[in-house]
Amino acid sequence: MLRTHTCGELDINNIGEEVQLSGWVQKNRDLGGMTFIDLRDRYGITQLTFNMDESSDLCEKARKLGREYVIKVTGIVIERSSKNKSIPTGDIEIIVSDLIVLNASKTPPFTIEDETDGGDKLRMKYRYLDIRRKPVKENLMLRAKVSIETRKYLDNQGFCEVETPYLIKSTPEGARDFVVPSRMNEGQFYALPQSPQTFKQLLMVAGMDKYYQIVKCFRDEDLRADRQPEFTQIDCEMSFVEQEDILNTFEGLTRHLLKEVKGVELHEFPRITYDDAMKKYGSDKPDIRFGMKFVEMNEVCQQNNFVVFDSAELVVGINVKDGASFSRKQIDKLTDFVKTPQVGAKGLVYCKCNEDGTFKSSVDKFFSQEDLNNWADKCKAASGDLILILSGEKLKTRKALSTLRLHLAEELGLRNPEEFAPLWVLDFPLLEWDEETNRYHAMHHPFTSPKPNDIEKLDTDPAAVRANAYDLVINGNEIGGGSIRIHDGELQKLMFKHLGFSDEEAKEQFGFLIKAFEHGAPPHGGVAFGFDRLCAIMGGQENIRDFIAFPKNNAGRDVMIDSPSFIDNEQLNELNIKLK
Ligand code: AMO
Repeated sequence: MLRTHTCGELDINNIGEEVQLSGWVQKNRDLGGMTFIDLRDRYGITQLTFNMDESSDLCEKARKLGREYVIKVTGIVIERSSKNKSIPTGDIEIIVSDLIVLNASKTPPFTIEDETDGGDKLRMKYRYLDIRRKPVKENLMLRAKVSIETRKYLDNQGFCEVETPYLIKSTPEGARDFVVPSRMNEGQFYALPQSPQTFKQLLMVAGMDKYYQIVKCFRDEDLRADRQPEFTQIDCEMSFVEQEDILNTFEGLTRHLLKEVKGVELHEFPRITYDDAMKKYGSDKPDIRFGMKFVEMNEVCQQNNFVVFDSAELVVGINVKDGASFSRKQIDKLTDFVKTPQVGAKGLVYCKCNEDGTFKSSVDKFFSQEDLNNWADKCKAASGDLILILSGEKLKTRKALSTLRLHLAEELGLRNPEEFAPLWVLDFPLLEWDEETNRYHAMHHPFTSPKPNDIEKLDTDPAAVRANAYDLVINGNEIGGGSIRIHDGELQKLMFKHLGFSDEEAKEQFGFLIKAFEHGAPPHGGVAFGFDRLCAIMGGQENIRDFIAFPKNNAGRDVMIDSPSFIDNEQLNELNIKLK
């Protein structure tokens, strides 16, 4: 070992000991008589002291150390005269007696400290330097802890980890596939799995009973803060279970992780149906850390000759507690915000509930004080509160108000990253209409079972059919999704028919699964958590990028290794690929 201790562990109890430390030079301060060096490794920072009067050789060497040089030192631990209370090793320093330079380093392109001057692009290009920084390193360590605790919990529950292949045939998760050409099978391609969905169902037919895998998935879709082209799932499937069993098992997993990793005890998770979530929050992934639930106000707003409301399918408001103190300028800003293309509303109506019991609204011309009082009653608004109202077509208006709700919560500091508010969203629609292809698509995937009582509506009102499908949402982020699967061959055929697959098409794409199901498929269901998203939320952030060691940028590029890249003609020929 090139060290007796790490740079994060020495303290007052080690005073007088001779130690060896190895690490990177974070800072070199030459104060004439003394040179101080902050030595960093994964575990922390320790101050090294070189007394310049003592050994001229040593002093010369210390003076020349540049940032990020890799060194090994030997020295004695002493108590510091001026202590640094902000780091665990801040009570001590090392009086160095020997210094070996293990490697020199170029000056780094950005400062490797908690706060860096490096922009996103530079940090990604030199990701190995970025990971030396404490915040990024700690995110990766948190990720490792979440992964260990996931395995512990699932192992304890009798789950068996099984690896499934990466070179497969397309999986039906709705995004585009990444494909890999097969050299040995001319003109043919593998697809990388968007998830191990079909394999985990085959493992249930195989009797594996309780399967899990922490697994890479690949989806060629538009990237956002919470989406990467390759990401990781905690993927699970169970046999002989009903929805309730799955919800309980994975609520248990979430609770275990929050407790072991964050020391947070979670209460029983609330449950809400998809329809209710849309009605009360305008979103299927509501952030319930704060209130501002939607109040439908058609009844108290319409038929007052205010044409905007009268012509609207939905008039819906939120009550902003203590918002009556918002200035005119603040409300104008909110109005501008809802009119941005990102929100898409035409305007915003407000009503201030004044402290003296009167009301001031943006539509006083149309509504009397009594009308406004009815609004306040409907919204349970008290003196000092502010009612904000949007109106128009139902779905669009709900979505717009949902965006405004989140925006306000952000501005009012109601989205505390250290608070965790999980909930289950249940009873998702089975099908959703796709404008592009002009037909219904499976909202989750084609193996999701409809609610038995809704099956008859498949012919008459497909959009009204609900599925045994559920999402786990934490702090307004979709963390996981799953469903109870169809295990009955006839029902599966019916589903394929409704999804517009001919018998041949279904056979061509999913023949292997249909066939397997003829060999004794048990009732089964499962769920997959987005592992990167879960880690980010646990780390108090919503961008998953800094919880992935080597992520891609928004154009799907790894700027460090410069990928994707062209390949040479020889390789293309070997793969029988001709570029245009
Ligand atoms: P689903 O498609 O809902 O379900 O994915 C499960 C979870 O994976 C995460 N996720 C992503 N995370 C980062 N980047 C992405 N591009 C990305 N896409 C999805 C989300 C999501 O909730 N096979 C089914 C699960 C099942 O039915 O058991 C599936 O993959 O957090």
